[in-house]
Amino acid sequence: MPLVSMRQLLDEAAQGGYAIGAFNVNNMEQIQAIMEAARETRSPVVVQASRGARSYAQDRYLYHLMLAAVELYPEIPLVLHLDHGNSPETCKSAIEMGFTSVMMDGSLMPDGKTPSTFEYNVEATRKVVEMAHARGVTVEGEIGTLGGIEDGHGAGVDALSHLTDPDQAAEFVKLTGVDALAIAIGTSHGAYKFKEKPTGETLRMDRLIEIHKKLPNTHLVMHGSSSVPKELQDIINAYGGKLRPTWGVPVEEIQRGIRNGVRKINVDTDNRLAITGAIRKVFAETPEKFDPRDYLKPAREAMRQVVMARMTAFGQAGHAGDYAPLPLEEMARRYAA
Ligand code: G3H
Ligand code: 13P
Ligand code: ZN
Repeated sequence: MPLVSMRQLLDEAAQGGYAIGAFNVNNMEQIQAIMEAARETRSPVVVQASRGARSYAQDRYLYHLMLAAVELYPEIPLVLHLDHGNSPETCKSAIEMGFTSVMMDGSLMPDGKTPSTFEYNVEATRKVVEMAHARGVTVEGEIGTLGGIEDGHGAGVDALSHLTDPDQAAEFVKLTGVDALAIAIGTSHGAYKFKEKPTGETLRMDRLIEIHKKLPNTHLVMHGSSSVPKELQDIINAYGGKLRPTWGVPVEEIQRGIRNGVRKINVDTDNRLAITGAIRKVFAETPEKFDPRDYLKPAREAMRQVVMARMTAFGQAGHAGDYAPLPLEEMARRYAA
């Protein structure tokens, strides 16, 4: 099966009461780690690439690595999704390259920093929906602004200052026709999300539940959802790294989200931590080694473990064979109808 529609995976997840982890990639080893985890757990998969990833890996490398994954793992429904598209042009270039799903993040201006207006967001997102749906491609929008700027995404605002407004969210979905909606509930990208274990004050699950009540049929997306496990921080710090104490989004809170309409969960940082910890360990313990395979293999294995754990916790494990993926042409026909 070729790369498939994300909408179908999320619809199936909604029916089954589970969610799909969307894991960021920049290179071959990360794609391999995800695909092996998917085979082992029999999970449908969303692989996502940011603008940074597309420029780091180059679109064609990325695309052909994904085609290799399709060929090698025919039993796994596999989506290639653009993470945080900053403009309709970026989304267009992704669609032309073969992405089967795109995020138009119109919560920020094309600089990826300045919070936009509601009107700008609606306009940019609607444009992308029109262009994408004509080709059967899925669209994720975002309303509200995530905190932080550490990884270059975000306004640098406090995570609680631009939470998603439930009424605006409902209006946004109605006006744009997005397939999935990313919301801001106090999370941020990167390792430094919370200074202590998040409480109901800092991670606003109540807000998520309110949004779900207004939009019971919309697939919600949680960004900034790495859990930043202490064990992974400790490995990095034990081998010469310098991470400050920090907390991420507890897996139990994500599971509460899944019971309240969350169907896609974005995870990048946990995999970055796992990879870096594994590489540091090899460097520290066997400084005589210099064959990249000696540290990239354990790095890939460490990421595979994290991805398997998330796939299991999110409930997507075991669902790879539930349905026959629809071709994008069929999705396009459905959108047109
Ligand atoms: O949205 C953030 C993801 O972690 C991707 O980050 O832009 O550094 O590739 P990146
Ligand atoms: P983390 O930094 O928490 O992994 O979030 C990734 C993300 O939201 C990508 O869009
Ligand atoms: Zn994100």
